[in-house]
Amino acid sequence: MEVMEISGGRTLTGSIRISGAKNSSVALIPAAILSDGEVTICNVPEITDTDALTDILDFLGAKVHRASESIVVDSKSIENKLIPEDISSKLRASYYFMGALLGKYHHVEMYFPGGCSIGQRPINLHLKGFEALGATVNEDGNRYIIDAERLHGANIYLDFASVGATINIMLAAVRADGITMIENAAKEPEIVNVATFLNNMGARISGAGTSVIRIEGVDTLNGCFHEVIPDRIEAGTYTIMAALVGKQLKIDNIIPEHLEALTSKLVEMGVKIEIGSDYFIITKPDSYKCVNLKTQVFPGFPTDLQQPFTVLLTQCKGTSHLEETIWENRFMHIPELEKMGAKINLIDNHNIEVTGPTKLIASTVKATDLRAGAAMVLAALIAEGQTTICDISHILRGYEGIIEKLSAVGAKIKIKEI
Ligand code: EPU
Repeated sequence: MEVMEISGGRTLTGSIRISGAKNSSVALIPAAILSDGEVTICNVPEITDTDALTDILDFLGAKVHRASESIVVDSKSIENKLIPEDISSKLRASYYFMGALLGKYHHVEMYFPGGCSIGQRPINLHLKGFEALGATVNEDGNRYIIDAERLHGANIYLDFASVGATINIMLAAVRADGITMIENAAKEPEIVNVATFLNNMGARISGAGTSVIRIEGVDTLNGCFHEVIPDRIEAGTYTIMAALVGKQLKIDNIIPEHLEALTSKLVEMGVKIEIGSDYFIITKPDSYKCVNLKTQVFPGFPTDLQQPFTVLLTQCKGTSHLEETIWENRFMHIPELEKMGAKINLIDNHNIEVTGPTKLIASTVKATDLRAGAAMVLAALIAEGQTTICDISHILRGYEGIIEKLSAVGAKIKIKEI
């Protein structure tokens, strides 16, 4: 078993370059099969989630060439086969192959998706969207069988602005006959990145980034070249880390506008941030004011930064209130932080109160999911002594080169086989 060992209490300085966005890449890789030509996607992070998706491309018979940060995919020879459960259940985003295969072949069979356990994670909105486009959805044991004689445009209203449903419906609708309108669509930057990719292939999608997306179906999609946007969640995680232990720490290669909800909270707490065109420079302040926080869909405060941000709240003077509105079970990091001495009151599944400032003490803790794991890394960096983090496969799913990046700015961090 691999564990991460971190010795806390060091000041970090220098520069961290942010990788391409995981949550864009995991949609772009499945979307690549919609093309009848060769697509090049650059700035794809080397993380286990993108590896698992390229394994699926390999399994389907696509020619995949990975050269450092780029992936070249030629899908001319793919076959529409049932992806083995042991590959598709490795990650949630395997469900983007549903939309893509349905869009291309009008038929898809797929096992129920896996992913971090942060709530029930139903996909009813995805399936409702496919049905509106003319597909029938059947369940056979633990897999879906989705068929359509023909896919046609439709008006689809999402009950919740789901990121996954918005992307999956775009993938299924892009080659359908006629016009599809997605209302109450998700507005996250990753949606815009996926729509741009499809448009680069020749799709006709407008409105991505707003709550109404219009998709005019086309017959074929061509090859293209596309770049993944910087990962706003990786950037946000390291920005929070800089507020905790940074000295002139530069978070580089970012889009600052994607992180405004975070930076405005940090400023409210008393953290000074130099905001450049594509970077932040941050130094830890002497003390932090407590703040209240609520996670929301973009451009609100991202749920994916809620867990790392909790660590910062343990250092604020007074009691902060945090409300998680997106997921119903995203407080698995709380017992782990409590092991390190954090004073947190779990009010219910959506609300916590954090009282500080508290000196955290090193301990052996678990990364219960990806962002909980990131929270453990931040807690370990400020704790006295050496922390051991178990179940680190969750962390490696989403943070490219975390050991190298943090070591380069002065952290004492390593992965050890035990
Ligand atoms: N929901 C439904 N029905 C659906 C789809 C979603 O009820 O058909 C509910 C979910 O249960 C949840 C809420 O809607 O309560 C939000 O779900 P959404 O579909 O927006 O999330 P997702 O697409 O499954 C993506 C990211 C998550 C991120 C959320 C919210 C990927 C692969 N995952 O998930 O990222 O938290 O959007 O921004 O893009 C992470 O990176 O750590 C992560 C979990």
